Amino acid sequence: MGLSDKTYGIQLQTDIGEIGFNHPILPEIRSMSAHPSLLWRAFTSLTFVVIACSFGTVAIAQNTDRPELPHGPLRQTILLGETLVRQTDTHPLTREFVGNSLQCSSCHLDGGQHPQAATFIGVAAAYPAWAPREQKVITLEDRILNCFLRSQNGTRPAAGSEPSVAIAAYITWLSEGTKLKMNAKQSLGPHHITMLTSPKLPASIDRGKQLYADRCQDCHADNGSGTDDGPAVWGDESYNDGAGLAKVPKLASWLKVAMPPDEADLSVQASFDLAAYLNSHPRPHFEPPALSVPHIETPAAQ
Ligand code: HEC
Ligand code: HEC
Repeated sequence: MGLSDKTYGIQLQTDIGEIGFNHPILPEIRSMSAHPSLLWRAFTSLTFVVIACSFGTVAIAQNTDRPELPHGPLRQTILLGETLVRQTDTHPLTREFVGNSLQCSSCHLDGGQHPQAATFIGVAAAYPAWAPREQKVITLEDRILNCFLRSQNGTRPAAGSEPSVAIAAYITWLSEGTKLKMNAKQSLGPHHITMLTSPKLPASIDRGKQLYADRCQDCHADNGSGTDDGPAVWGDESYNDGAGLAKVPKLASWLKVAMPPDEADLSVQASFDLAAYLNSHPRPHFEPPALSVPHIETPAAQ
């Protein structure tokens, strides 16, 4: 999906209050509240909208150019990265590394520009970071490539390859202006998903099943395999059991801010019940690559 053909919800926190409206322009305005360094941009864009509206022109539709994008090859690389994030399972540069029918943007909503749902905004400023899962310090590229292994149930493109560099460039661009602060505790950026604490009642698969039928299955299908309106949430085409969302508290915390897409209004209890229900179904099994290939003796360094 192109940038200009989507209607973005815009919520702006200013010192005179909150301005909210929808317009098919400048998706980055949506994330202003999470990214104060971009406020000037919102301001200039808003001024433009107001002026254009008062003249009753159609000029707004043409204001899709984002002035903050650098020029030259870097600009092209950033834009390629955004395309890959939105078309991960079909794009020729990434599809061979993807083992399901998800895009990065299936979970990193709006291409990672949604301010809460696993946002990419500010993420680059946290790396290199300590990764408790891998028990080592990793780079932003490593973090990206690990999502191919688990959330995309695929294989890692090489670090330094065109898709890896392009996605890293896109995420770094979305992080411009964020204060650099390497994360020594976990490989997560400054606006990572807020983890919910467990609700009063233990998560119930039965309640989750009912909620799923009421609120989710129109888009994700009664057998979880997805429809034209929403991707697979369990089964072969979904994330594998090593992915972050395969853990009930992480999935519940993501659902709370992400689903249903137009109105993320689930209670904490409903989010946990739904997470328990979704993750009670079979999904691909994660095999750590280091263990799935036979150990080969390498000759001593020359
Ligand atoms: C099935 C859902 C899903 C898919 C698909 C997915 N991710 Fe993720 N990803 C997550 C979750 C959940 C996190 C943890 C986010 C958090 O806790 O804030 C995460 C974390 C990340 C992070 C670290 C964010 C941070 O705050 O440091 C990066 C970078 C990332 N993913 C990149 C990607 C890329 C690139 C793709 C596509 C190749 C992708 N992801 C596909 C779910 C997914
Ligand atoms: C109006 C359609 C719609 C409804 C209703 C909806 N979803 Fe989604 N869901 C989507 C879309 C579309 C995406 C992918 C995001 C994107 O492409 O922008 C998604 C993504 C997801 C994902 C992450 C990607 C994946 O497939 O694993 C999960 C999990 C999920 N939805 C669960 C739910 C749950 C649980 C509910 C019910 C509370 C729900 N959704 C309601 C459309 C919907």
